[in-house]
Amino acid sequence: PRPILLTRHGESRDNVRGRIGGDTVLSSEAGQLYSKKLANFVEKRLKSERAASIWTSTLQRTILTARPIVGFPKIQWRALDEINAGVCDGMTYEEIKKNMPEEYESRKKDKLRYRYPRGESYLDVIQRLEPVIIELERQRAPVVVISHQAVLRALYAYFADRPLKEIPHIEVPLHTIIEIQMGVSGVQEKRYKLMD
Ligand code: G3H
Repeated sequence: PRPILLTRHGESRDNVRGRIGGDTVLSSEAGQLYSKKLANFVEKRLKSERAASIWTSTLQRTILTARPIVGFPKIQWRALDEINAGVCDGMTYEEIKKNMPEEYESRKKDKLRYRYPRGESYLDVIQRLEPVIIELERQRAPVVVISHQAVLRALYAYFADRPLKEIPHIEVPLHTIIEIQMGVSGVQEKRYKLMD
């Protein structure tokens, strides 16, 4: 069985500031350190896997997280970009709560279906991931997917067979690799926490 490795990007500058969306680079300490630890891990784990590939989104923080990994082709997918927060892009949750309380409340009520004004809902993200999932299923070699929290919640739920309504609440921590193995007896999962 061939593994699929799922991970979020290393901590970004916006993660540090608590801002959602955006397209910032990695934080100069934790974020960059994770990119190196991940490269180390991937190079060891996939040493003899010549056909393996690294998939990222088109956003800086995933591309920079992949940068130290050498020896494997890298593919950028727009479909792996983070949920589009529309008018809330670049805000903190505190700011949304204060400046757009109705939006904040409707999202809290139905996080799966709530669509940010001029942005996306979780259902939108799940739908746009379909071609990525088809391609992942088709691969014979291991794939490392470096993406974002909302997107990885949806991907993980697909492989781990979790119900739709849970998706927006699944925990996908930073700096952790979720390894999915698909074998005849079903799906197996391992987690590697590379740092805090
Ligand atoms: O920036 C967006 C987050 O990764 C998604 O988090 O859907 O829990 O607000 P949330």
